[in-house]
Amino acid sequence: MASPLFAALAQVSPGSTATTQIIIRWIHLVAGITWIGLLYFFTLVSNPVMKQMDAATRARVAPALLSRALWWFRWSALITVLAGIAYWMMIVTADAHNAQASPGVAIWSFFLIWTVAFAIENGLVMPLKGPLNNGFVLGVLVAIDVAAAGYLYVHFNNRGWESNRLLAIGIGGGIGWMLLLNVWGIVWRIQKRIILWTRAFAEQGTPIPEKAQRMIRQALLVSQISAWLTLPLLFFMGAASHFPMFGK
Ligand code: HEM
Repeated sequence: MASPLFAALAQVSPGSTATTQIIIRWIHLVAGITWIGLLYFFTLVSNPVMKQMDAATRARVAPALLSRALWWFRWSALITVLAGIAYWMMIVTADAHNAQASPGVAIWSFFLIWTVAFAIENGLVMPLKGPLNNGFVLGVLVAIDVAAAGYLYVHFNNRGWESNRLLAIGIGGGIGWMLLLNVWGIVWRIQKRIILWTRAFAEQGTPIPEKAQRMIRQALLVSQISAWLTLPLLFFMGAASHFPMFGK
């Protein structure tokens, strides 16, 4: 059996009230819409517009706009995933409880597989060398990485008692876990330094370090990849209760 957290969740899940579940689901939906809404705003609106601005205008606008948008972006991402994981744990522990099985593998394999998938994605994005500096090539390689992770998750959780909800969220939520690591592990770490440098440039004329261009490109590529990954993520979120693709 897993940690005290899972033990505590195992206590609530079988009998957890519908009220508890709808409150967690509601928080998940509100935070999820905020997160994905801002991701689409960055990818489809603010990044292209920032590129068209001259350096002086960008230096005046970007720090205020990005620091506020990234605050809502990173905290809504965290709340979405925490609420999603809490909800999913209820599903996993209820399935395991009904089968008198342990939820351990379903939970640990989730974090292991999807954190490794993030590490591979990170390793692909950071060099920015040769074909790995091409957005399309990167997109294809990350799609293969995510498909392989999804396949492995179902492969290791196929003991007959795992429900469609458990497996669909095991994939969709896994992508969500990767996106959360993208936000806090890559995008925010880069953008907070870019905001500081841009503010110092606008206020004191301090030159922005040369490496900033490379970092901005890494953050841009990770945002674009994340935006594309929301498509399979939302498919699996909806499929959990509405499309029995895993036949259970
Ligand atoms: C970008 C991140 C995410 C967004 C936008 C998102 C969005 C959604 C939406 C819209 C639903 C409702 C689907 C429906 O009722 O048809 C849903 C359900 C759900 N999500 Fe997420 N989600 C995200 C990440 C996650 C993560 C990381 C997890 C946890 C591992 C998770 C777990 C769940 C669970 C358990 C459900 C309920 C599934 C069911 O009805 O059986 N979500 N999510």
